[in-house]
Amino acid sequence: MSQDQTPYQILGEEKIKELANIFYDVMDELPDAKHIRDMHSKSLVDIKQKLAEYLTGWLGGPPVYQQKHGTVCLTKPHAPFAIGPEERDQWLLCFNEALERIGASEELKDMLRVPVFRLADTVKNRDESIKENTDPNIIAIA
Ligand code: HEM
Repeated sequence: MSQDQTPYQILGEEKIKELANIFYDVMDELPDAKHIRDMHSKSLVDIKQKLAEYLTGWLGGPPVYQQKHGTVCLTKPHAPFAIGPEERDQWLLCFNEALERIGASEELKDMLRVPVFRLADTVKNRDESIKENTDPNIIAIA
């Protein structure tokens, strides 16, 4: 693998689509990701495509998502959801499992580890995850 290659060049368009599809399949099936799965719509069809478009640009390919939405900023679409460290880690768990399932090389996984963590951490919009409320005296935890 040439060091000059972008992840987009290494994976190619089809594998990126596969990554996005498998990412949400993993989210759908992993009990450890149930909390973030429940935040999403019942059908994952549209979001699979959106993630593929986003990743295409982010991994160094054509900026498809940006062209459609005018921005790559993920703050607004995630604003309605409470995303703390646990939610971020569930997302990363799905991403790493999806990378495994598409057969990504060790080099590619190494190359992506830190940037993907940073990306997911940027989407985080609170410092604490909302814990399950086990105290009947507490009605809501902000
Ligand atoms: C850190 C944990 C994250 C959680 C819990 C989360 C959750 C969500 C949810 C609930 C939606 C809305 C889905 C729907 O409308 O059904 C969404 C949309 C989206 N997420 Fe995330 N997300 C996370 C991180 C990320 C990251 C790191 C990326 C970067 C690739 C990303 C990319 C997207 C995209 C592209 C959309 C669609 C936005 C749009 O409507 O244009 N998400 N996410």
